[in-house]
Amino acid sequence: MTADHVAENRRYWNARAGDWVAHGRRHWAQAEPTWGVWDVPESELRLFPDDLRGLDAVELGCGTAYVSGWMARRGARVTGVDVSHAQLATARALADEHGVALTLIEASAEATPLPDGAVDLVISEYGAVTWCDPHRWVAEAVRLLRPGGRLVFLGNHPLTLVCTPLDGSPVDTRLARPWFALHAVDWRQVPIDPGGVEFNLPTSGWVALFRRLGLRIDDYLEPRPAEGGDDVQFYATADHAQRWPTEQVWKLTKT
Ligand SMILES: C[S@@+](CC[C@H](N)C(=O)[O-])C[C@H]1O[C@@H](n2cnc3c(N)ncnc32)[C@H](O)[C@@H]1O
Repeated sequence: MTADHVAENRRYWNARAGDWVAHGRRHWAQAEPTWGVWDVPESELRLFPDDLRGLDAVELGCGTAYVSGWMARRGARVTGVDVSHAQLATARALADEHGVALTLIEASAEATPLPDGAVDLVISEYGAVTWCDPHRWVAEAVRLLRPGGRLVFLGNHPLTLVCTPLDGSPVDTRLARPWFALHAVDWRQVPIDPGGVEFNLPTSGWVALFRRLGLRIDDYLEPRPAEGGDDVQFYATADHAQRWPTEQVWKLTKT
């Protein structure tokens, strides 16, 4: 559909990396992980297994790599994969500052140079899950996992994309594009905050993909901000996100 989405997203993230250093630094400084735009605590969402010690983990689309850092500090051997050299430069600098050892690889999450079946956990927070074709990156995650290994990811809810106006302005309550046609959304030509190609699927499309690739669904969550917040994060208000899902979490196991 968009043959050049990897090149466009590399360009976009190399150009925007400077805007994300403070965000990365803030998350690297946290001892306790919080997830997504609403900073929901790990104690509530439990994206990580109880014990990460000795596990091999890969983060696909690691960006500034604070998720990789959280996993490494909990005892995992972690490889972060990202297509943007500028984002990886931030990741390297922050890992060094915190004295955390990470393996960082510049590659597309849709086709990594990593070996088959050598990983216990693949994770993505707004990385591959947002910027890669699900049919390609989820298949790549499955290739990397050992049988019994887990794939966990958090990103935009498909309803968010359906309710994002076509000019790129923040999400509202009108349906702007068809639910069942969701796949690639190309933001290059929009007047507001142009750039990048984003992906999502209708919920039934995600489930069909997981079944086809031999992934068992262990859990599905729709994280929300704490009640009473008047926050605005990126594309939505907390009031909106209290009433309609803006994010989704899938927890899966390779059978
Ligand atoms: C929102 S950021 C990463 C999320 C991370 N949790 C963070 O906030 O730093 C999205 C990342 O996806 C990366 N990305 C985009 N397309 C990619 C691809 N094809 N393969 C790997 N990474 C990709 C971008 O370079 C960017 O660093």
